[in-house]
Amino acid sequence: MQKAGILGLGCYLPPKKLTNSDLEKMVETSDEWITTRTGIKERRIASKEVAASDLGAEASRAAIKDAGLLPEDIDLIITATITPDMAFPATSCIIQDKIGAKNAACFDINAACSGFVFTMVIAQQFVNSGLYNHVLVVGTEKLTSIVDWKDRLTCVLFGDGAGACVVGKSKNRVILSSFMGADGSGGHLLSVPAGGSRLPATEDTVKDRLHFLKMEGNEVFKIAVRIMVDAANKAIKKAGLGRDDISLFIPHQANIRILLAVAKRLGVPQEKIFMNIEKYGNMSAASTAVALVEASQENRIKKGEHVVLVAFGGGLTYGAVVVKW
Ligand code: UT7
Repeated sequence: MQKAGILGLGCYLPPKKLTNSDLEKMVETSDEWITTRTGIKERRIASKEVAASDLGAEASRAAIKDAGLLPEDIDLIITATITPDMAFPATSCIIQDKIGAKNAACFDINAACSGFVFTMVIAQQFVNSGLYNHVLVVGTEKLTSIVDWKDRLTCVLFGDGAGACVVGKSKNRVILSSFMGADGSGGHLLSVPAGGSRLPATEDTVKDRLHFLKMEGNEVFKIAVRIMVDAANKAIKKAGLGRDDISLFIPHQANIRILLAVAKRLGVPQEKIFMNIEKYGNMSAASTAVALVEASQENRIKKGEHVVLVAFGGGLTYGAVVVKW
């Protein structure tokens, strides 16, 4: 019996690049600090009129084409984003309209940087249960719309982009297992404080810059390594595999030092950790999505090999999926 797997993949990165030397002109920072502390050299910036749905629609079209399907064949769209076009309607509905997926049900999820991994798990359930045949999952972010360009602690880290995947019954690239977790007590470590029902927008919230992303980077860093390793190990065990059975780990791209620490703790060589943070920075839900697409396009995964997608982020949330290519 065929199980839920990857039918098609696509991504979209806005063409405009913001380099570390560009940032040197905006805040008190240096290419040397950003490179050594984060591994980021440049990130993509979507233009003013572009929203998360525009990036997501481009990635979706590419994924549907790659799957050999038409937009009408998609029966569910799930978008993971923390930068929706607006509070509602859901960005999935806006993407549905843009790409002409008129037969699809739509909803969004909010699991921050773990969002794309979570959508893969949700899609797997719908496909394996037989409720939907072709689920389009999208990780899309215009993080530069919530970045405080006066805060050097955060503005050097983030970028814009989108990745998408069509999940359906498949003989290969099958989702074998998954793990999802959360720790709401760490929610304050990574948030946009205002703009919701707790602190609706007022002149004061704008003046106090509370609509921008806030992060306690040091605290998040410590937790990130531990929970990504834990999530990856749990998903690998659930698949009945061991660490050495995994050919490639595709982790959320938050900081190169986190990625290297994860490799060390997992006990795997660096070559087994996919990295593209140098080019894009942290794109939250889009990071793992784009990394998965690029790993596939660069032929980093051969047929029959096992790959682990693993992420952590605001919430706090964390999760992993194991895919047999
Ligand atoms: O995807 C969501 C999850 N997010 C993450 O995973 C992020 C996790 N955290 C991190 O990646 C790191 O904590 C950061 C990259 C955010 C910061 O790196 P760090 O090594 O933890 O630096 P720090 O915050 O301890 O700051 C060290 C120094 C400070 O100066 P003093 O106090 O030692 O004089 C900062 O003020 O570096 C300074 N600093 C900067 N200097 C130049 C902080 N940001 C900058 C900057 N340029 N952009």
